[in-house]
Amino acid sequence: MANGLPGQDAGLEARPPLRIQGEKVILREKRLEDVEDDFSWRSDPELAAFDAVAPLRMSLSEYLTVFKEELRYPALRQLTVAIEDAEGTHIGNCMYYGVDERQRQAELGIMIGRKDYWSQGYGADAVRTLLRYIFENTELLRIYLHTLTWNTRAQRSFLKAGFHPVGEVQRFGHDFLRMEIVREEFLAQSAAAAAPAHPASATS
Ligand SMILES: CC(C)(COP(=O)(O)OP(=O)(O)OC[C@H]1O[C@@H](n2cnc3c(N)ncnc32)[C@H](O)[C@@H]1OP(=O)(O)O)[C@@H](O)C(=O)NCCC(=O)NCCS
Repeated sequence: MANGLPGQDAGLEARPPLRIQGEKVILREKRLEDVEDDFSWRSDPELAAFDAVAPLRMSLSEYLTVFKEELRYPALRQLTVAIEDAEGTHIGNCMYYGVDERQRQAELGIMIGRKDYWSQGYGADAVRTLLRYIFENTELLRIYLHTLTWNTRAQRSFLKAGFHPVGEVQRFGHDFLRMEIVREEFLAQSAAAAAPAHPASATS
């Protein structure tokens, strides 16, 4: 399928770098200059705890080797993009992964690594912008995510981005809330958001 994953369905044709404009954020392709931010975010115990994983335990130079390999040989069935604010500051990353072409679904993840940017709408806008990209450029019909049950800020942000909860699941010994959105929901929400707030008053 035209899976919308850069470099995985474009053959040898040159293509412009991915750059997706949101309301508050720009999503762009990962680049080498991101390595120090990503290293510091992935080494941070507080940030790792939100993903129920251990923080990185390697040096920056070791991580640089891994990072270069990931840039050169992007993993199949996933796409990670950097999140920038309007001034071009790199504030985090978001991704979709585990693309299942048969069930036409994938999992979404996000981390705003810059804590001074939390709770200002950047997360919801980044997620909404990535969903728009996915539903407009791939054949995926359902996007789901898992967030720790105690991560109420993330849940609030995902609700604002259009996801709905579908139930609790246990994974790797942790309790997660699974949330989903399907393409029709996303399109209906986008149409409602684009409609005039009070259409009746326009004719009166
Ligand atoms: C989760 C994350 C992506 C959300 O992005 P964000 O930009 O901080 O969040 P948003 O501004 O879009 O939305 C946060 C909402 O939660 C609210 N909120 C903040 N702290 C809260 C708390 N402790 N409990 C409940 N709601 C909270 C905010 O007020 C806001 O709601 P409002 O706009 O209705 O006021 C970001 O905080 C982050 O990356 N956190 C660390 C890593 C993480 O948790 N990743 C998700 C793993 S699944």
